[in-house]
Amino acid sequence: MAGGFAVSSKPGAGHRQFKGKITFYVWICGVVAATSGLMFGYDIGISGGVTAMDDFLVRFFPAVYARKHRAKENNYCKFDDQRLQLFTSSLYLAALAASFVASRVCTRFGRKRTMQAASVFFLAGSGLCAGATGLAMLIVGRVCLGVGVGFGNQAAPLFLSEIAPAHIRGALNILFQLNVTVGILVASVVNYFASAVHPLGWRYALGGAAAPAAVLFLGSLAITETPTSLVERGQPQAGRATLERIRGTRDVGDEFEEIRDACARAAALREEEKPYRRLARPESRPPLVIAIAMQVFQQFTGINAIMFYAPVLFQTMGFESDASLLSAVVTGGVNVLATGVSIALVDRVGRRKLLLEACAQMLVAQAAVGGIMVTHVGAEGSPTRGWAVCIVVLICVYVSSFAWSWGPLGWLIPSETFPLETRAAGFSFAVSSNMLFTFLIAQAFLSMMCTLRAYIFFFFAAWIVVMGVFVLALLPETKGVPVDEMVDAVWRRHWFWKRCFADADQAKINNC
Ligand code: BGC
Repeated sequence: MAGGFAVSSKPGAGHRQFKGKITFYVWICGVVAATSGLMFGYDIGISGGVTAMDDFLVRFFPAVYARKHRAKENNYCKFDDQRLQLFTSSLYLAALAASFVASRVCTRFGRKRTMQAASVFFLAGSGLCAGATGLAMLIVGRVCLGVGVGFGNQAAPLFLSEIAPAHIRGALNILFQLNVTVGILVASVVNYFASAVHPLGWRYALGGAAAPAAVLFLGSLAITETPTSLVERGQPQAGRATLERIRGTRDVGDEFEEIRDACARAAALREEEKPYRRLARPESRPPLVIAIAMQVFQQFTGINAIMFYAPVLFQTMGFESDASLLSAVVTGGVNVLATGVSIALVDRVGRRKLLLEACAQMLVAQAAVGGIMVTHVGAEGSPTRGWAVCIVVLICVYVSSFAWSWGPLGWLIPSETFPLETRAAGFSFAVSSNMLFTFLIAQAFLSMMCTLRAYIFFFFAAWIVVMGVFVLALLPETKGVPVDEMVDAVWRRHWFWKRCFADADQAKINNC
């Protein structure tokens, strides 16, 4: 096929369509697996609110408490404390390490068992955090939660992409992100009420993480393993029976054949070479680069500066404590609603259009917030009511575009683009890149804000330009292409990535 961007404009041309309907059972499985996102989201949303609660600060971070209440403290620096940031970020460091273990567990024991393990770690972590008597116990609890997140985020998106019929894979997979956003919103509401409960409010807020974990654990008892994972682990009959059940027909021969072929090919290739070594080959490079880039860029949109630190950020901007928590609830609500837009559009307009539109919208919103902060809110001042409303509206504009693009697609695209032989291993790079950069943002943001001040918004805006160019040039459209046909239908046809594959007329692989 000719070069240029032809693959992008003709998404999924030339791939097969399989029989079967969208059954109630496939939705149930999807909804349950996606609750893994609820655990992740609750965590993202809870830490910012808890670190803004005085009872929590007095107990664990008295120096930050004193600084926060000092008169005329520089707005941008009052929360800058490495240990406070470590409270938030330790979870992501643990999740980063756990995702590599989780990829092996996923291949060896299946996606469902990995999700169950995630919920158990999460239950333990929430107990430790809620009952923490000192900083060490609190951090150990965060580490357990992190392992839960690493396991859950590895298994759930893969599970969803593998059970979904190709034409609704985007929508089903985005249930994960929808749960992330619901988790964040619920956490903001919990924070809002818990902050009024003295002195134990923070314990209730942190202990609340047990609820989504319990939902996932109980729900997972009712769901199936994916047909791919069953065949991969030597249970072809169970794999076929499961496929018939989730497709609602016995006529699944073609799809089952494809899964079996993919598994046989994957097994043969794994005999030759371990998946992590295989990822170093040129032909693994396209999905690997895309998976890592999607996650790194997702974090460089600056979203977690808002998600983790919304209450702190709004206080920095001069809002009162209550107004800050309430504004975080508003942005959280927008995040959930806009994710619904993505579910409705992703399998119709495709991935690329959503990402590009969002880049434009996020760029304008970030630059405008930065502009207002520079010109109308000094280091020690508060915005007037009008400007405060304006800032909240712009942050909602920004969050909504993230929510229908980089948020869900950061998880969807890496889960659908690896061939089976490197899928779990490759996806673990996506999860760990997400965790690494989430950690860096969580750890560095408050200090960056202290140094860069309002210019921090321009820093993120500059990254948005880079990611727009990346999507235009290097991201192919994957809408509607069956997961196990990506190599032939997408990568081998892309103007740039096709260089990574040898073909009949190519004696050797070009540089890629
Ligand atoms: C990201 C999180 C982010 C969340 C916001 C997720 O896709 O991975 O880092 O906080 O979206 O909704």
